[in-house]
Amino acid sequence: MEFRHIKKAVFPVAGLGTRFLPLTKDIPKEMMPLIDRPLIHYGVDEAVASGCSEIVFVTGTGKETIHQYFQHSKDLEVHLEQTGKKDLAEQLKKIPELAVFYYTLQEKPMGLGHAVLCAEEFCRNEYFGLLLPDDVMLADPTVLSQLESVRKEYGGSVLSLEEVDHEDTSRYGIVDAEEVEPGVYRVKGLVEKPDPKEAPSNLAIMGRYVLSPSIFRHLKGIARGRGGEYQLTDAIASMLREEPVYALIYKGRRLDCGVREGWIKATVTMAMRDPDLKKIIMDTVWKETGKKL
Ligand code: G1P
Repeated sequence: MEFRHIKKAVFPVAGLGTRFLPLTKDIPKEMMPLIDRPLIHYGVDEAVASGCSEIVFVTGTGKETIHQYFQHSKDLEVHLEQTGKKDLAEQLKKIPELAVFYYTLQEKPMGLGHAVLCAEEFCRNEYFGLLLPDDVMLADPTVLSQLESVRKEYGGSVLSLEEVDHEDTSRYGIVDAEEVEPGVYRVKGLVEKPDPKEAPSNLAIMGRYVLSPSIFRHLKGIARGRGGEYQLTDAIASMLREEPVYALIYKGRRLDCGVREGWIKATVTMAMRDPDLKKIIMDTVWKETGKKL
């Protein structure tokens, strides 16, 4: 059968962002800045760079700013043009044109699996990309494109993996898998956030997936799992009995912006890539500590 690249990307953005309270009381965590743009913009850029032209946000209440961010701000664009800031106006105009954006409401946060199920109407019978925007990925080609290359070669759904320290297995979905070529695995089983003593490996699922549309049927069949939530991992484990699931240790760097220390590190990492911002960081550290970096 002819291989058709994914065109649709799903972003679950209904989480409450409790790790960043009080900041996230009124600001969605996906709108937290990383230098000059919100986290969600990085994820959307990755999806677009991977060939996706349609994006669905699975949102919750209080997430209106995400909607607004991907719309035109006519007044602001006109103001910038009239005050000689054409470049900035052009930059803003491109944001709503990145893709076609759709929104669907997840009425209550009942887990990642439930959020993905809310996107069923939008994905219908096509393979789709799933991106968790807390993870900002620095990779070329994009992580989603790397997963697509594996799908092209082997078929089935493809998950992104990282090797983690054994004591960290309880933070991630963990796979039991057999390596079929360096870095590429055929998944035999999955467990959501296992205790290190029970983890089948140290291969942890990260926030990028290419999923078969069959996942929706399996999502409807699972019971509440870890933490009383509907877990995507459990639906993938169920799908595995009927169709292949592969996983790839992707090449690139992940900035975990879902926790405070990760977000600070990500900010410094991104700033150090810009010569002007790098100088500001170096000078500030010097001023604050008396030490030159
Ligand atoms: C979710 C998934 C988990 C995966 C992780 C990657 O967990 O349930 O399997 O490893 O994303 O970021 P969460 O971080 O939403 O608790």
